Amino acid sequence: MDVFEAINTTRAMRRLKADPVPDDLVWKVLDAAIRAPSGGNRQPWNFIVVRERATKEKIAGWYLDSWNKSYALIKGAAAANPETARTYASAEYLANHLADVPVLIIATVNQSGVAAVSPGGASIYPAVQNLMLAARALGLGTALTTLHRTHEAEVKALLGIPEGVETMALIPLGWPRGKFGAGPRLPVEKVTYWETWGQTGER
Ligand SMILES: Cc1cc2nc3c(=O)[nH]c(=O)nc-3n(C[C@H](O)[C@H](O)[C@H](O)COP(=O)(O)O)c2cc1C
Repeated sequence: MDVFEAINTTRAMRRLKADPVPDDLVWKVLDAAIRAPSGGNRQPWNFIVVRERATKEKIAGWYLDSWNKSYALIKGAAAANPETARTYASAEYLANHLADVPVLIIATVNQSGVAAVSPGGASIYPAVQNLMLAARALGLGTALTTLHRTHEAEVKALLGIPEGVETMALIPLGWPRGKFGAGPRLPVEKVTYWETWGQTGER
């Protein structure tokens, strides 16, 4: 797949089938993740592949609790805008079906030695995006999620994650129920300034 097509059609795919994802494909997306840049090339990442039902159910319970305590409360307001309403409906579906997703990938960062100028996220999210693009190229759906972090201590205890290592994203991976397509985005001319802040329209 052309890289621009993959970029343009990688979006949050939250409605995923329960069908298993072959190990070699999981491997392939992780092998794309580790090609990413990181501060000082420290590569402070690890990826925990969770497929066991019991483990997924525990994480899904915490994720749903986090959803219920935050976004579910503002669902009414979100309904006013059709695009936001669609996002919330899809996020709510995922929150209620996370344990059914065949693979959950937890991306972690070892925070030791991460300088303030290069915060931990800066050294993991490029890898996460690589992973999601590779998944897209293979026809697999993903979404970058972080709601589990409300229960970071419990997730860490469950997965045996050592001190100093933080979970940065939970990426559900599976075959999508729906079709891939471009997400709604502000056009580039709206978000690009030339030379100084606010200068639009020049090339
Ligand atoms: C830092 C970050 C955290 C996010 N956390 C969540 C999350 O916890 N749950 C979720 O369903 N989506 C989460 N998302 C996905 C966004 O909602 C999604 O990227 C955005 O709505 C655009 O969706 P689209 O690509 O389908 O248009 C997160 C995205 C980012 C970048």
